[in-house]
Amino acid sequence: MNAMEDTSGRKDRRIPLVETGGLEVTYGTGREKVRAVRGVDLAIAPGEALGLVGESGCGKSSLGRALLRLEDPSSGEVLFEGSPVTGLRGAALKAFRRRAQIIFQDPFGSLNPRLKVGRAIEEVLHIHGLGADNPARRRRVRELLDDVGLEPAFADRYPHEFSGGQRQRICIARALALDPVFLVADEPVSALDVSVQANILDLLRRIRAERDIAMLFISHDLAVVRAVCERIAVMKDGEIVETGTADQVCDRPRHAYTKKLLSAVPDLAGIGEGA
Ligand SMILES: Nc1ncnc2c1ncn2[C@@H]1O[C@H](COP(=O)(O)OP(=O)(O)O)[C@@H](O)[C@H]1O
Ligand SMILES: [Mg+2]
Repeated sequence: MNAMEDTSGRKDRRIPLVETGGLEVTYGTGREKVRAVRGVDLAIAPGEALGLVGESGCGKSSLGRALLRLEDPSSGEVLFEGSPVTGLRGAALKAFRRRAQIIFQDPFGSLNPRLKVGRAIEEVLHIHGLGADNPARRRRVRELLDDVGLEPAFADRYPHEFSGGQRQRICIARALALDPVFLVADEPVSALDVSVQANILDLLRRIRAERDIAMLFISHDLAVVRAVCERIAVMKDGEIVETGTADQVCDRPRHAYTKKLLSAVPDLAGIGEGA
């Protein structure tokens, strides 16, 4: 039983699932030192999609990776379900890894070219001790492929046999295999053709609605973020300069930098609006 659920099984959205306080991520030392994340305080409720937007190099990926403990903060903290992630060891760390997943921009780089995609997903299940036996795991893989809009028979194919959009669907299926409650989507459509982007955004929206997964959705593109997220944080030079509902941030931006980002979006209404 997880601490976020009340007796009716519903998640309590008042308690943050993920929270940071004074989070700093620094690379290098001395004159080479880069302060990628500077004193970030944010909270993501269970089931909430928070968009993180800002120009390339402003620290979005560093922040996302720190939330998943793929990067150690130089100061400040990350809480997951109320506990510091830096303190996690052994079984607790493995449980955290299962509950918090990431999908990347590059669906080409994140799949092993020598593994059939079904095997790649099966491996994840196996490592985490899920599924009673191999046939059960293979059935689960086929279900997952079906869930993300792919033919179950695709399990027997290799990554090079798929398009970019299909590969991103496979990566999403692999992330969902462990039934996460939190997903960091780091520029998940930036490497895809515009025509494919809307389909993947639709898929992410549907998954959120069906599974009630909380998401940090990272993009340099405000239109993409708005298509998926109810709340948006704007990042500049390692700091969050503005946070608000998607409508507030896009229709009534307060910060000059947000206005600048908005002016760079040619057609904010166009992308990912249903269809
Ligand atoms: N592993 C690393 N080593 C050194 N500098 C890094 C590393 N990763 C990112 N940086 C630097 O940190 C800053 C933020 O990068 P990043 O988090 O990737 O930004 P974004 O995802 O917004 O493009 C950049 O100046 C980048 O060059
Ligand atoms: Mg990045």
